[in-house]
Amino acid sequence: MPGYAVIGGQWGDEGKGKIIDFLAGRVDAVVRYGGGSNAGHTVVNDKGTFQLHMVPSGICWPGVAGIIGNGVVVDADVLLGELSELDTRGIDTSNLFVSERAHLIMPYHVLLDELEEKARGDSAIGTTGRGVGPAYVDKTGRMGIRVGDLLDIEGSLRPRLEQALAFKNALITKIYEAEALSIRDILDKCAEWAARLAPHIQATEQTVQDLLAQDKAVLLEGAQGTLLDIDHGSYPYVTSSSPSVGGACIGLGIPPQAIAGVVGVFKAYSTRVGGGPMPSEMLDAMGDELRETAHEYGTTTGRPRRVGWFDAVAAKYSRLVNGMTGLVLTRLDILDGFPSVKVCVGYRVNGQVIDRFPSNTSLLAQCQPIYEEHPGWSQPTASATSVSQLPEKAMSYVNRIEELVGCPVQIISTGPSREETIEVSRIIP
Ligand code: IMP
Repeated sequence: MPGYAVIGGQWGDEGKGKIIDFLAGRVDAVVRYGGGSNAGHTVVNDKGTFQLHMVPSGICWPGVAGIIGNGVVVDADVLLGELSELDTRGIDTSNLFVSERAHLIMPYHVLLDELEEKARGDSAIGTTGRGVGPAYVDKTGRMGIRVGDLLDIEGSLRPRLEQALAFKNALITKIYEAEALSIRDILDKCAEWAARLAPHIQATEQTVQDLLAQDKAVLLEGAQGTLLDIDHGSYPYVTSSSPSVGGACIGLGIPPQAIAGVVGVFKAYSTRVGGGPMPSEMLDAMGDELRETAHEYGTTTGRPRRVGWFDAVAAKYSRLVNGMTGLVLTRLDILDGFPSVKVCVGYRVNGQVIDRFPSNTSLLAQCQPIYEEHPGWSQPTASATSVSQLPEKAMSYVNRIEELVGCPVQIISTGPSREETIEVSRIIP
């Protein structure tokens, strides 16, 4: 049962979209298992550049099914917008399926995301404002509306919506003193979503189980990253889902034995968007230079990303949480020309040196990075397609990361397009 999970090893934005697109030609389906339209996966190939928030990143490969699993929260407007754009650009979307068990991001979730963030003031999480957190809250609070409810608006969706909206409108008007939403408008929207999405709605857990039973290869597409995981990230500065590999079993309805490999995607440095501690953050001019060279601005929100050196303590933690069997190192080319490059190998906190990623967020915020400095390389790695094209010093940097994280690097990405990739060893046989 060959399922291969592609997981963000840091705080998201590691380049998972590119890696999924690179690998998707070798599988039968790419399945998203968590997150929502907060994700922004960029794919660059011979068909152009695509920014995908809801649609799985293998969509450009003809014959490869794209599946949005039950663990995803679906913004139907965003999804339909992406499907229309893909259709216009000649990409076949008839193979795109959405789980009937997936929850919908409703207009009140988006509004509440904004109102809650404002109310948090200085402790704002810095969410993407897409309604993802409030949608997951309703899912666990058993007040959510599911994609399958769109297929039975009068019998199923309307009564659930009436109940939920009465509660949400009380919250919106009485606590946040904002304007109530109209049930009529929401029902109209749902009717439109239902008409357009119906051909794509399925019991996707069965589809995925059938593929695995037939020994078809399936890529499990993670969104966000392990350090944003609701359980394993720097709580409360996290997203509301489980981007780590455990989320794949729950978010698709598959057993752990179905997962043959867990690939952790890491940038050759670190980035983070929004609040929360980041021990190896670069708050100096070099950090600004790195941000500009790499154009580190959010795909979903356009916000500048915080940048830092590669944090091997956090990466090793990520490897352990996910049982990673291989690593992918992206954006190595961005470090070309730096006089030296640093790797965080430990933290100094309360007079002690630690090499574990603390669960206590205020302790993590006090951690001072201990760096190992490596010589930079002047010869470019950009667009390299084989290890032999990499300067020796770049390769020693990669080897050191491999050693510190405790897992082999299987792919090195040297640019945004599909071709700018070094496959050190095959992830999918
Ligand atoms: P939310 O997922 O919109 O609730 O945002 C919670 C936190 O996760 C914020 O710090 C966001 O910036 C971060 N976040 C959510 N999705 C992504 C992503 O796809 N890439 C990077 N950061 C993300």
